[in-house]
Amino acid sequence: MRTMICKKEDVFRGPVILVNRTHPLRPGSEPQLTAADDRCPGIRMERRAAGLLAACVSAVGGRDEIVPVSGWRSQKEQQEIWDSSLEENGEEFTRSYVALPGCSEHQSGLAIDLGRAAKHIDFIRPAFPYDGVCGAFRRAAAGYGFVERYQKGKEEITGIAAEPWHFRYVGVPHARLMEENGLCLEEYVPFLRQGPRLCRLADGRAAQVFYVPCAGEETVLELPEGCCQVSGDNEGGFVVTLWRWRP
Ligand code: DAL
Ligand code: ZN
Repeated sequence: MRTMICKKEDVFRGPVILVNRTHPLRPGSEPQLTAADDRCPGIRMERRAAGLLAACVSAVGGRDEIVPVSGWRSQKEQQEIWDSSLEENGEEFTRSYVALPGCSEHQSGLAIDLGRAAKHIDFIRPAFPYDGVCGAFRRAAAGYGFVERYQKGKEEITGIAAEPWHFRYVGVPHARLMEENGLCLEEYVPFLRQGPRLCRLADGRAAQVFYVPCAGEETVLELPEGCCQVSGDNEGGFVVTLWRWRP
């Protein structure tokens, strides 16, 4: 066994953080950014998420048809998008399709809007259909750690209208567990709080995922040796993932 100590502020960092109207991003969680696609250097994402996005797009043969539309945004950019949408589209539309500045997943570097290549691509609502290569990407996404974040039927929970183009990186076991159980991110931590979950992975390993509430200034985790990851939930605790070879 080994001991891991998580600080209180670690609750606000990591790939599983919930970012929404009631869970703003906290300072100190600035991502390391890189281009989401080497042909679009201005559209950036968190480094690991960018690598897996590229791998997923290549795996489905989508390099020419799938284009990144919007990746990481600064607070200033999110504010500009909010302000210009309010002016052009009004409040109802803007609240449905644009996160409040400070509360956008795009500011974490973990979100990407994708579009199907076309002469004109709508910046706020790019077309990303369910068929063809875009559909193939959607079906493969969880295997690379991505979820379609704002699904139809979850609008009341997420506070955002269905956005078939917005993908959020959370990591492979989490994306698969969310997909298999039909959960959006708001529902995922409550699901983990009910007890540990096991996710069988394609590479012959299994991931065990469990939740640990933050115990104060320092939370002491006693973990078995081996590969592990701890992510904050941006609320009150940590999502712990342990990888093991399946017997
Ligand atoms: N379109 C999503 C909700 C955002 O602005 O972050
Ligand atoms: Zn988006």
